Amino acid sequence: MPADARKIAVYPGTFDPITNGHVDILERSLALFDKVIVAIAVNPRKQPVFSVEDRAGFIRDATGNNPRVECDSFEGLLVEYCRRRNAGFIVRGLRALADFEYEFQFAHMNRRLAPGVDTVFFMTDERHHYVSSSLVKEVASLGGDISGLVPAAVERALASVFSKQGNPP
Ligand code: COA
Repeated sequence: MPADARKIAVYPGTFDPITNGHVDILERSLALFDKVIVAIAVNPRKQPVFSVEDRAGFIRDATGNNPRVECDSFEGLLVEYCRRRNAGFIVRGLRALADFEYEFQFAHMNRRLAPGVDTVFFMTDERHHYVSSSLVKEVASLGGDISGLVPAAVERALASVFSKQGNPP
């Protein structure tokens, strides 16, 4: 691993859409790394509500165009993407005990595939430990209040998507 790779981390996820829980993890990761690449996974098994371009727009908007944050997308193995981007670390958030087993497997498999890429976990802030993108979408689709859980632009976009679909609000 080149020395400068230690300063670059990849924060991967589907980010459909980014939530304030993700933003919190991202901001805290910037205290450790010089550059964090938020990498939107193009996952054929998930059917996202927002396009990759829209998701990237929400991420850029939420990070205030911080020059130390880059937003990108990737397909295929995460560790291959890390290698291509010269990143030595993967950032993940741990919300609750339920996340641990999956993250444990995920981190070990990634380390087996690429021993030079390590995973760093941040405990999700207590305000966000129950939040997920799916839950936010479900609540929004049923007209519930999601303010404070997602950036304002995401809140507006979700309201627009679900009003077009004929659901409340
Ligand atoms: N705050 C709020 N929500 C959070 C969160 C936080 N801090 N951390 C996670 N979440 C939510 C996510 O929004 C997501 O919600 P959703 O399932 O409703 O969309 C959910 O928790 C699960 O998150 P995560 O485990 O990060 O899943 P993901 O789909 O967002 O990302 C990848 C998973 C993309 C990182 C992983 O599948 C991957 O690396 N794929 C590439 C292929 C690969 O390398 N596979 C081999 C891996 S060993």
